[in-house]
Amino acid sequence: MVPSDRIDPVILGHILGHHRELHSRLLTLKAAYAEPVAAGPHRIDAVAKLLAELREHLREHFEQEETGGFLEESIARMPRLSGAASDVIADHPRLLAELDSLLESVGHRDTSDAAWSEASRGFSVFADHLLAHERNENAVVQAGYNEDLGFGD
Ligand SMILES: [Fe+2]
Ligand SMILES: [Fe+2]
Repeated sequence: MVPSDRIDPVILGHILGHHRELHSRLLTLKAAYAEPVAAGPHRIDAVAKLLAELREHLREHFEQEETGGFLEESIARMPRLSGAASDVIADHPRLLAELDSLLESVGHRDTSDAAWSEASRGFSVFADHLLAHERNENAVVQAGYNEDLGFGD
């Protein structure tokens, strides 16, 4: 393990712990999307509420990652990581935009099966993108710190 004198490993662990919480929010949303929309617009409202909460949570999470310095610290320790670190940071606005379009699509409150299937597919694609992002990010941080924090796949 490479000791860090600039980054508190507790803070680093806290951020990586957020990834597990995000994972659980995604599972909750996946279950909400799986509910039949024919039961009524309140199904859509439930999904919209979870999406809005996820968006706020993600916005804060990304801000912490961008201002927390731990990606920079990883680069300082291992300069070859800078491309990968820039890539993960560049994902942030794209992921928020993707989430905005999911919110927009549920905002139409279309209770047809076709619209709901389409919305569910959109969510699955977004969830895959977010999970891939977090995996890449964990890889950058773990490589930079050269320690296994136990948050791998
Ligand atoms: Fe991130
Ligand atoms: Fe993250």
